[in-house]
Amino acid sequence: MTAAYLDAAATAPLRPEARAAMLAVWDAGQANASSVHSAGFRARAEVDAARDRIAQALGARPGEVVFTSGGTEANTLAIVGLALARPRGRHLVTSAIEHSSVLESCRYLERVFGFELTVVPVDAWGRVAPEAVAAALRPDTTLLSVGLANAEVGTVQSINALAELAAVFGIPVHTDAVQAAASLPVSFGSRPESAGIAAWPGRGITAMTVASHKFGGPQGVGALLLRAGTPVEAVLHGGGQEGGVRSGTENVAGIAGFAAAVSAATSTVGATAWELMASREALVRGVLAAVPGTALTGDPEERLPGHASFTVAGVSGESLLVALDAAGLAVSSGSACAAGQSDPSPVLLAMGVAPELAQTALRCTLPAPISERTRERFVDVLRAEVSRATGTRV
Ligand SMILES: Cc1ncc(COP(=O)(O)O)c(C=O)c1O
Repeated sequence: MTAAYLDAAATAPLRPEARAAMLAVWDAGQANASSVHSAGFRARAEVDAARDRIAQALGARPGEVVFTSGGTEANTLAIVGLALARPRGRHLVTSAIEHSSVLESCRYLERVFGFELTVVPVDAWGRVAPEAVAAALRPDTTLLSVGLANAEVGTVQSINALAELAAVFGIPVHTDAVQAAASLPVSFGSRPESAGIAAWPGRGITAMTVASHKFGGPQGVGALLLRAGTPVEAVLHGGGQEGGVRSGTENVAGIAGFAAAVSAATSTVGATAWELMASREALVRGVLAAVPGTALTGDPEERLPGHASFTVAGVSGESLLVALDAAGLAVSSGSACAAGQSDPSPVLLAMGVAPELAQTALRCTLPAPISERTRERFVDVLRAEVSRATGTRV
């Protein structure tokens, strides 16, 4: 039995390019990028080259890339850093289905700095309605933060429509692109050559979060793309690395691996998205047709290409994971970023799914198209587990 890894949204498999880039840094001799000797200069050159590659691949200028320890830190820096630098009316707007690092950063500002927080609802497909955002924004709103695509159900937001609403009042917009940037053509729009579809979400966005391990790079490294000239308060204080915005010795090998993964992923992203989508659609059709009680969660069309997420009535997500793992199929129940939680997914609850059904969430996120055999094995195991758990013959 060959194992199949269908959990790319939690962490994508390491790309060979990323592994090679990290090994090259370590083999050359690890050094501090701030040191004033040849090894230090080499480390600095690695970081600079990686910054250029990431900026190029994501339509940003090199000076707009701030390296962090991952998506969580980049989201925290965006929200806390932008809000504290320019509090305006101390009012934040976000959506009910954001990653916990976004929601908790907003709640931190609410708790400790007295900000007011408006959490905009979503519809049954996980879409943030522009009308709801329009109703929430005020001339004194500090920041709007809405993720480009949701990690649990894959729904992609109409971020540009939301950004246009924010622009009316000159409100900065942050988007968490941790999931979207890894499988859709995404650009920060700072380079003249980034036009057309590749310029999405583009210049209406002030700050955008990306994380290495979703592109197939190493874990524990990411970046905040921050529009040139945007005032931001540092969250980590110390030696003043990353232009004073993010102190701490740079993770040189991790940054090199991150850049290699981003370059590899973005160079094929358009073509692979279609293949991935076709494979995902076949999986979704197979599950819905053969497994009673299953329903697709998230927007059926405006969703990430490799994302298949379901509820499975009558069977706990945890027991499905165990059965699928025993059959060599690695998937997730809801979001692995909130691992260890057996509470119903807050994302599904926000979409109006009943708590009991929200506890049955199952998520497959394909790193690459899957074979017919893998698809059939997945459907067979799922059907058998549903039959066992519900006591029905299917
Ligand atoms: C949408 C989204 N934002 C942020 C994060 C956090 O990123 P990291 O794991 O790099 O801290 C994740 C999960 O990994 C995510 O899926």
